[in-house]
Amino acid sequence: MDGQHSVALSRLKPHLLLIPKGSNISFVFMKRPLSYILALFTLPFAPLGAQTLLPKPQQAVMQKGSFRIDKPFRIDNAAGNAALNFYDVLQPTAARMPHASTHRYVRYQFDKSLPSAEAYRLQVSADSILITAKGHEGFMRAAQTLNQLVTRRGITCCTVTDSPAFAWRGVMIDVSRHFFSIDFLKKQIDALARYKINRLHLHLTDAAGWRMEIKRYPLLTSLAAWRTDSLWKTWWNNGQRHYAAEGTPRAYGGYYTQDELRALNDYAQQRGITLVPEIEMPAHSEEVLTAYPELSCTHEPYKQADFCPGNEATYTFLENVLTEVMEVFPSTYIHVGGDEAGKASWPKCPRCQALMQKLGIDHVDGLQTYLINRMGKFLQSHGRQMLGWDEIIADSLPQGTAVMVWRGTDKAGEAIRKGCDVVLSPGAYCYLDSYQDAPPTQPEAIGGYLPLQKVYAYDPLQNLTPDECKRVKGVQGNLWTEYVPTPEQAEYMLYPRVLALAEIGWNGTGQKDYADFRQRAEREVDVLQRKGIHAFDLKNERGERPEALQPVKHKAVGAKVQYNLPAHPYYLAGGDGALTDGLRGGWANNDGRWQGFIKGKRFDVVVDLGSVQSVSRVACDFMQSYGPEIFFPSAFIVSVSADGQQFTEVARTSYESAKTVLPDVRTCSWKGTATEARYVRVQAESSAFGGWVFTDEVVIE
Ligand code: ACM
Ligand code: ZN
Repeated sequence: MDGQHSVALSRLKPHLLLIPKGSNISFVFMKRPLSYILALFTLPFAPLGAQTLLPKPQQAVMQKGSFRIDKPFRIDNAAGNAALNFYDVLQPTAARMPHASTHRYVRYQFDKSLPSAEAYRLQVSADSILITAKGHEGFMRAAQTLNQLVTRRGITCCTVTDSPAFAWRGVMIDVSRHFFSIDFLKKQIDALARYKINRLHLHLTDAAGWRMEIKRYPLLTSLAAWRTDSLWKTWWNNGQRHYAAEGTPRAYGGYYTQDELRALNDYAQQRGITLVPEIEMPAHSEEVLTAYPELSCTHEPYKQADFCPGNEATYTFLENVLTEVMEVFPSTYIHVGGDEAGKASWPKCPRCQALMQKLGIDHVDGLQTYLINRMGKFLQSHGRQMLGWDEIIADSLPQGTAVMVWRGTDKAGEAIRKGCDVVLSPGAYCYLDSYQDAPPTQPEAIGGYLPLQKVYAYDPLQNLTPDECKRVKGVQGNLWTEYVPTPEQAEYMLYPRVLALAEIGWNGTGQKDYADFRQRAEREVDVLQRKGIHAFDLKNERGERPEALQPVKHKAVGAKVQYNLPAHPYYLAGGDGALTDGLRGGWANNDGRWQGFIKGKRFDVVVDLGSVQSVSRVACDFMQSYGPEIFFPSAFIVSVSADGQQFTEVARTSYESAKTVLPDVRTCSWKGTATEARYVRVQAESSAFGGWVFTDEVVIE
């Protein structure tokens, strides 16, 4: 039962189960009427300088004065339409000017000697703007910097020499759990481009809905793209999880046509962003296996999440799908998922067993490796490279395979040692579906607690050797959308946390200064909100649980704890001293302070005070968080003993269980007449719904 429970949890969202180791409105607008552009100049701008740029450029020297854009100037656009965004801002203004007669100019010039395609130089004086890059990408990045330098007076004079620390600065949006429109994606592309994000990874397929038109397999979009409930949570928990044919009364969902996706690729490309498609395999594929059940081991709809790797038809299907994906998406990297395969049907499937025998493998894990490898080779034979979640790590992956790390950061070293490049998006720092502020004050999220400061603190190079660091392509923030049903909510979760990853990705991890970054981020929140983006109001952030910020003094600090039932290996929180270290858990269940218990459906420890002492109060904090199925206990029991053999129960309190939406922390305590004891036994029974008991710090007074 416990095992099943853990599995159910881990399919839901296991990142929450892991312990961490360790302007200026953007002028990214396209084809806006002149009146609109000019209206922006009347907004109250803060004084600008290098200290306002986000991400921070590698080198910037700000000077006095501005290049006035309300006075005549001409555009020498040798780079053609390269710097589309900035050009679009200037062009309507310039068009009004008798530009032939002016000495003032904006000039684009090529310099092939710059260190990377995205590197650029900017020289802005009162009479000229010189933009130097190798080509389109560099001009795009320069344009974004210029956008951030526009004030009511014009563009602040400066010299900027800039290039990115990491080549991959990504954001993933899960469009399966909830469907988001093309217009929404365009709006995000505009916003993300401002921060020099250069990859938008679309999680296009999952149990909750298939989102890309595939011409050879029409049921993927006529059936598997639609489900019976709009809210993922209702659908997932209703015990049925049925799909519904497109156009039928309850059908919720949607998909993108290939034409729409081609146009979206162009739109993103023009803004310096590459769309990276993800097609899940071999798991997270309930929707495919309901539309095409012959691709599962038992051929029954609604029964399995994993493809049958023993069936050639699986490979035909996946190759046909990937062929259409490659026809639509120019991205070099094609993401094949690869995460969280349960593999439950494979040991019993005659086809899978026959393949294992043929391949000479004795564990089903080898079937996943075989399938992933085969798909990687297929992509490679079409001039593309495979990208997958860190479960794909294996020997002999095709040359050029990249691994997207989402579990422990230790997976990066593991992947690199197998010869892969890595993109780092570990759940503990990069999963933007976690709460960003005190959960009791927030709209429902999946759980956890990942404030801006923690994202900013992330160092993607941690624990890697200098040689290994060279294989880190970059960083990515992932917005899973199980608990993100609306576009507003998606924006709220993305911004401003994405800005921290943009800063790390562009500026590197060399010199961090959170106070400085936060000031720039707060300013950008204003900018985003003026653009109509529903960013989290950073200025009103409440922050970490106050109790977690101060050590707590009590009689049991440093005391030995005996576990009658062990903490779960994922939730040891640093080991046997965690409950008596004087540090209380914060808002995140995975902050390394909370211990999690599921075995025997209870928490049961004995604290040894070392000597008989007077005890009059015993208190423990408990967490409740619906997403990861952590619930307040249904009973709290305290017993005391002088010898560790004979215990006297002093308190037994029962609590009604309730599935509250927002995570919270509750203190359960006993306070009574002082009693002499050396041993204090504390027990808590799991909720009426089962689930986990999460506790921290047994405070004894
Ligand atoms: C993942 O979060 N399962 C990649
Ligand atoms: Zn099979």
